[in-house]
This record gives sequence, structure tokens and C-alpha cells, in this order.
Amino acid sequence: CGGCDWQHADLVAQRRGKAEVVADALRRFGGVEVAVEVEAVPVEAAPVEAGADVGPRSAAPDDGLGWRTRMRFAVTAEGVIGLRASRSHQVVATPDCRIAHPLVAAALAGRRFVGAESVEVAASPSTGQVSVAVRGDAGGDERSGRTDLGTPTGHLGAGDRPLQGGPVVEEVAGRRFTVGPDAFWQIHPRAPEVLVGAVRTALRARPGETALDLYAGAGLFAAFLAADVGPLGRVVAMESDPAAVNAAAENLADLPQVSLRGVRVTPATVRGLLGGGPAAGGLDIAVLDPPRSGVGAEVMTALLSYRPRAVAYVACDPVALARDLAVAAQSGYELVSLRAFDLFPMTHHVECVALLAPSAATSEVTLP
Ligand SMILES: C[S@@+](CC[C@H](N)C(=O)[O-])C[C@H]1O[C@@H](n2cnc3c(N)ncnc32)[C@H](O)[C@@H]1O
Repeated sequence: CGGCDWQHADLVAQRRGKAEVVADALRRFGGVEVAVEVEAVPVEAAPVEAGADVGPRSAAPDDGLGWRTRMRFAVTAEGVIGLRASRSHQVVATPDCRIAHPLVAAALAGRRFVGAESVEVAASPSTGQVSVAVRGDAGGDERSGRTDLGTPTGHLGAGDRPLQGGPVVEEVAGRRFTVGPDAFWQIHPRAPEVLVGAVRTALRARPGETALDLYAGAGLFAAFLAADVGPLGRVVAMESDPAAVNAAAENLADLPQVSLRGVRVTPATVRGLLGGGPAAGGLDIAVLDPPRSGVGAEVMTALLSYRPRAVAYVACDPVALARDLAVAAQSGYELVSLRAFDLFPMTHHVECVALLAPSAATSEVTLP
């Protein structure tokens, strides 16, 4: 299919290539020279076979396969799941996609979806839950459903066809998140834990601080920042997708220091939330995790006018990140550190976490 566009290269070459792409984008569009290393993120869940009891988990090899936990498959005329050929609408039967997580493979093994338009699978290796949403008119018993495949006693027996699609529970660093099939969630099983760790390490939130989580999704970063700023701190989370807002409302309900706003991030909504700037309580730190298009000049400028002491930017598009860094430089912010993670092996995609802070010259001016 057209998905794994770098599978002809070995993993070392893939990561070296991604590092070059990120460094090149930062140089050409961001005006910054950075040495980039792409960190490997091995999948650690053990393979699970349909119908088999799940034993203790063992570390999987770092082969760049079996990692993708959320997949949308097309369906062939024969009802076999498939993916689109490169630059084409043609559906290629892919019952054994090699980057699919074993939980995804187990949920679909031996199944046919004659008449369906698509089959969407969301698997949670941390809890073993799998949701299978069938769109279109699949005959027989092939309806949407959710099941538990990876719990210590869980199994998918011959008669255990899921009954209806629904949210899955994901566990990250001991905290549980419920995520419906329509809300955004990272597709590499270790991405939430790795990105949360990188963001927390970069921001070093202090008790009592005010934090902003823009493009908050199901509340992943807001939940951990809330723990870091503590009950006397404040986290404002902004997200526009109703499905994600509903998920975040549930996932953050036990954290009174979080204010969740179901709005589009725009200069006006950012200013509306933060009010009269530092005099209105100020902003200490922010995490930005925008879609591929990036944050954009207007929102970057509005946000940085509140002079946060640190901003963690989680980026799935290095060019968009670089453009936003160039805008940040005009507001007196500089790139302090950059980490890049190989969360999409076999593809050209790469995830970065950049730390921005007021540049040394600007800091001198603003120091009391
Ligand atoms: C890359 S995801 C990040 C979600 C979350 N931070 C996470 O890691 O799970 C980007 C999110 O931004 C949301 N989004 C896209 N454009 C937006 C906008 N203009 N305002 C608010 N949210 C937006 C999407 O719905 C999506 O949930």
C-alpha cells in the first residue's frame, strides 16, 4: 500500500534520514542550526494471537513493525480488509499489514466484511481493549464492537464477536484515559508516555503555576500538567473537536484545577481566555500540539505576548514547526532544545518536541 513509504530502508537509515529532514527544515524555514538525533521507541507489548490466552508481556524486538494501534482499513469486494495503493484509490488486500499492532491483527484475523465501506480499529495495548467500528452495510455478524484481548485472562474465542463499537481505555503512566473512536489519540503505543515525559521534562512545571494546553485532544498533557502545577495551579486546555472535548471532559473531571474550553484556537480565543495578560494572572508555561498545519503566526504571536517562561511544542510536521519557530524568534523566543522520536517507523513521519524560552537578550530586558 502507499502508507509505509520508507520501508525499503533499514531502521538506522530511516532515522538518519528523518534527522536530516528535521535539521534541514529547521535551517531553511526556521533559521536555526541544530544537530538532530532521532530516538528509537521500541514497542514493548508482547504479540497476542486470536483465541490464545495472553501470557506475561515480553519486550518486542525493535524491528519497526507491529506498532500501529489505530488503523482505518478499506474493504475489497470480497470483504477482505485492505489499504489504498500509493497515489491511488485502488484497495489492496492487506490482511497481514506488518506495521499493525498484534492486537489489531488479532481482532481482524479471519474476518470478512462484505459490503462494508471501511473498518476502523483502535487498540489499547495498555489495557488490552480493542474497538472495531464497521462503516457501511456489512452482512452477517460483522458489526462494530469492542472487546478485551490483552488483559491477563482475555481472549477472543470463535463465538466472541464484538457487539458494538465504542471507546477504549488507555493507560498512561498510571492514569486512565477513555478515548472514543472519533477523538484523536496517538497511534504508536508508547507515544503518549514518551511525549508526556518529554514535555514534562522540558517544562518543569512548578506548583502554583498557570499552564496552557493548546490542541488538547482527549486531555493527555493537561492531566499531567495538572498534577505538576498542583491544586493551587491552573491548567487551561483548548480543543475544538467535539468528540475530543467530550473525552477530555471525562478524563479531566477529577482535576478541578483544569479549565477545559471547547473552542477553536485563534488569537481571539487565546486572548479571551488569558484576559488582560500578566496582570490577569499571567501565563507561566504552555504545551502546543497542533495538527500538521502548525500553530500559525497569529496564534504564536498572541500566545507569546503573554511571555510564558517555557513553551513545549509537540510537532508532527517539522516544516510547520520551523515556520512557527521563526515567528517565535520575532517575539523574542528561541529554541532551547529539540528531541525527535521515531514514532512512525517505515514511514517518513517523525515527531518532535521543541522547548522554546525567552531568548537571552529578551530575558535580560525583562529581568527586574
Ligand atoms: C495532534 S492532536 C493532539 C492532541 C493531544 N495533545 C494528544 O496528544 O493526544 C491535535 C488536536 O488539535 C485539535 N485541533 C485542530 N485544530 C484545532 C483548532 N484550530 N483549535 C483547537 N483544536 C484544534 C484536533 O481536534 C486534535 O485533537
